[in-house]
Amino acid sequence: MIDGSPDYRDSGLEFSPDFVFGSATASYQIEGAVREDGRGVSIWDTFSHTPGKIVNDDTGDVACDHYHRVESDLDLMAELGLESYRFSIAWPRIQADGTGSPDEKGLAFYGRLVDGLLERGIRPIATLYHWDLPQALEDRGGWTHRDTAYRFADYAQHVGEALGDRVAMWTTLNEPWCSAYLGYGSGVHAPGVTSGRAALTAVHHLNLAHGLGLAALRSSVTRPETEYSATLNIHMIRGAEDADADSQEEAVRRIDALANRAFTGPMLLGAYPQDLLDDTASVTDWQFVRPGDLELIHQPIDVLGVNYYSTVTVKMWDGHSPRSNADGHGASTGSAWPGSENVEFVEQDGPYTAMGWNIAPDGFEQLLVDLHQQFPELPLMITENGAAFDGDEVVDGRVHDPERVDYLRRHFTAAHRAMQRGVVLRGYQVWSLLDNFEWAYGYTKRFGIVHVDYETQERTLKDSARWYRELISTHRIPQ
Ligand code: FCB
Repeated sequence: MIDGSPDYRDSGLEFSPDFVFGSATASYQIEGAVREDGRGVSIWDTFSHTPGKIVNDDTGDVACDHYHRVESDLDLMAELGLESYRFSIAWPRIQADGTGSPDEKGLAFYGRLVDGLLERGIRPIATLYHWDLPQALEDRGGWTHRDTAYRFADYAQHVGEALGDRVAMWTTLNEPWCSAYLGYGSGVHAPGVTSGRAALTAVHHLNLAHGLGLAALRSSVTRPETEYSATLNIHMIRGAEDADADSQEEAVRRIDALANRAFTGPMLLGAYPQDLLDDTASVTDWQFVRPGDLELIHQPIDVLGVNYYSTVTVKMWDGHSPRSNADGHGASTGSAWPGSENVEFVEQDGPYTAMGWNIAPDGFEQLLVDLHQQFPELPLMITENGAAFDGDEVVDGRVHDPERVDYLRRHFTAAHRAMQRGVVLRGYQVWSLLDNFEWAYGYTKRFGIVHVDYETQERTLKDSARWYRELISTHRIPQ
């Protein structure tokens, strides 16, 4: 038994000196400058400019204008004492149409960012793909088209050659679950396709891109101590207690197969789980998996990146009672759960964030412990965790956000408890450094520890940023 507060509101817990505290962002969510320096169009430009897809029809055209404000944003990171910064590279800045020789201006922007981090003693953690696929590749089928994985490897090679001498850790893909199932299944994300078969095809080609991209990086990066990873939003799945044990078990198994093992299977174990193939047999025969693919996907990685926000609770739908669909990802005519549409996602107990996501630090602890048990040799890194709440407001240069401080305290406590239980956790990247473009929710959801006034682009530290600064400087959870 671990001592501590039953609600995970601990203070004083100490993290080792080598635990890396950082913060995360993603290119399309903060950069703006979408038509500058040769940047091509991405699927998120197209999607956000399609009326009705994004709340308020917001777009990332300007976002946080980070592309022009990179120097002052770097100073902000230094002011917070960040030890690492996780950012993503916009593929269409490197190859406007997803092919061919790299754009020097695009590479130079990320070179300046990486140099600025190193000058300030901040470790650069670079994600190659945080969802902004060049539109030209989508026009040829995007992630349903096998060649996209090869184009990704080519892009990885260029970026590795340009930045590989300086980046500390590489992440191939961010949450391929979202790219595949929200992009091609439910269609609430770009490119907005609603086809179960397309979603599963995309799963495989994203896995293939991960493997090919990793190999390309390793062959182009010159720095021996560089580390390699992928970031998954591993789902923490619970059975609904009002259902019988069989129903719970079946629903949990199905969702675990689609959401988690569809990626950890090929990436970490070298095979797709048989139950996933069986569950989805009416959707696809998986013929898109060619001989040799699994060997290509199954590359050694040094760290597994984990993004965690909340849990899901499931049971098999009984076929007649009103059915809830609380999977946390917005309503759609399409399904994010191909072959398992009969799984019901039930409403969960609060409290909730502004996304409607339940706050469950106990689920976070459990997920880390479970992952460690499954893959005991693989160190973990929290590559995203954080929360949106309504009501952040600048008053006299301060933003009081006690709910976000509380959320972070409880989740850092959970991470600490997981480590006490043997989990090897290397660091924690808070989502997000800045308020930003929250995909289908546009600018209505603020996840930043730094407030952004989108009219003036003024940045203001929220109380959560001040709290986090103290945590970083002492390596101890503050009062
Ligand atoms: C994750 C995304 C990230 C951000 C958070 C809230 O799924 O990786 O870009 O939108 O959710």
